[in-house]
Amino acid sequence: MSYLDEFVSADAHRISRRVFTAEEIYRQEKRHIFGQNWIYLSHESQIPNAGDYALAYIGETPIIVTRGLDNQIHASINSCTHRGLPVARADRGNTKRFICPYHGWSYDLQGNLGAAPQERKLGIKLDKDNLGLKKVPRVETYLGLIFGCINPLIEPLETYLGDMRWYLDCMFDRSGGGAEVVGTPHKWSINCNWKVPVENQLGDVAHGPHLHGALLKGSSQVDEIERLGFNIVPKDGHGVAVRLMPEDASLEDKIFAKDGLTLFDKETIAYMQEQHAEVEERLGKVRARLKPLCYSIYPNLSLLWGNSTLRVSQPRGAGKTEYWSWWVVGKDIPDSIKMKLQKNYTFFFGPGGILEQEDSEAWTQQYAGNNIDYVDDQYLYFGLGEGEQHKHPELPGMAGSVFNEHYVRAFYKRWKREIEDGMSMEKLDPQLIALKNLA
Ligand code: FES
Ligand SMILES: [Fe+2]
Repeated sequence: MSYLDEFVSADAHRISRRVFTAEEIYRQEKRHIFGQNWIYLSHESQIPNAGDYALAYIGETPIIVTRGLDNQIHASINSCTHRGLPVARADRGNTKRFICPYHGWSYDLQGNLGAAPQERKLGIKLDKDNLGLKKVPRVETYLGLIFGCINPLIEPLETYLGDMRWYLDCMFDRSGGGAEVVGTPHKWSINCNWKVPVENQLGDVAHGPHLHGALLKGSSQVDEIERLGFNIVPKDGHGVAVRLMPEDASLEDKIFAKDGLTLFDKETIAYMQEQHAEVEERLGKVRARLKPLCYSIYPNLSLLWGNSTLRVSQPRGAGKTEYWSWWVVGKDIPDSIKMKLQKNYTFFFGPGGILEQEDSEAWTQQYAGNNIDYVDDQYLYFGLGEGEQHKHPELPGMAGSVFNEHYVRAFYKRWKREIEDGMSMEKLDPQLIALKNLA
């Protein structure tokens, strides 16, 4: 029995509403979840040239990701060593140095302090070796996806992703040109806890015909998803929902959905059919039969492969999330097809996207529904499908039906373990007591 058992039961069937609403829990998450895990920062296609940079966050800590003059990727905390202002202001750009707007200290692309105007005026030499921006100690990439970690001792990114890589390849390694993440992110605020959008895209396929009934009710896609779909846990905390199409399915059926979630025209369909042989060659016959739904990578990166989008759930307090969403596309796809894929993203999952709006409204109501009094003794139920998950002969990880919530149980078991481990290592007894009082 531990203190957090009152928030997440050992089997993760019962989860306290306070997991989504309590500021004390949120404070622990920033230290022990965001401070300890690989966090998605950017994609290499966002900073292709020396001097390019993009802004990111680890939790609420602002990060500058750069491509240095050495062509290597660096990440530093975006906070001046003099008084703490952010030194990089635009979402993206190209520069030789970042100049703090307050007193003009400048930092190079690796975060080292270059010049401070006051040095000359005072006739002094500052200890520049110790006055650079604080570096993110670990930065690694997988298929262009750049992750950073505050904990220098974290396992390598590839191990952290585990079998999630097998599924990520389907989106980021479909063709020789790889994928590109385009432009600056769409950003919007949602009045919900940061875990709620992640949880949705770990594998909450079951809400489709209900919340999105106007679009999906009666669609043959719903039947296909329920018959051929799987919720997979490639590694605890990560989740994937996909359809595995039968070997004898038509080429068209193997590639995309005919109705519901896509707006593809004949030209796009013909292009995808042409590409299929290359996909099969690169990824093999099983992965060429996989049809996309959604992915999440622990703790806060989500991907909607079928709608070409990558999104990060940026925490801004227990009840506020800043959602950052990008359009992702194969680099070597013809421009005319790219435009159609972009429309397909924007129409469904851009800031005004029909599905995005419905999801955001549900997430907001989820927060409101849990941030109430007199129900702390009534836990939320996460037990659907327990025991039904199994090893699949063709799909790495544990596989369950699309109604099985094992993906979210694995997420919250990991979440609980990490907070407990972090707190006990720090011997944060007063905070343990504060948490206990919340339950
Ligand atoms: S706060 Fe950055 S130079 Fe003073
Ligand atoms: Fe949805």
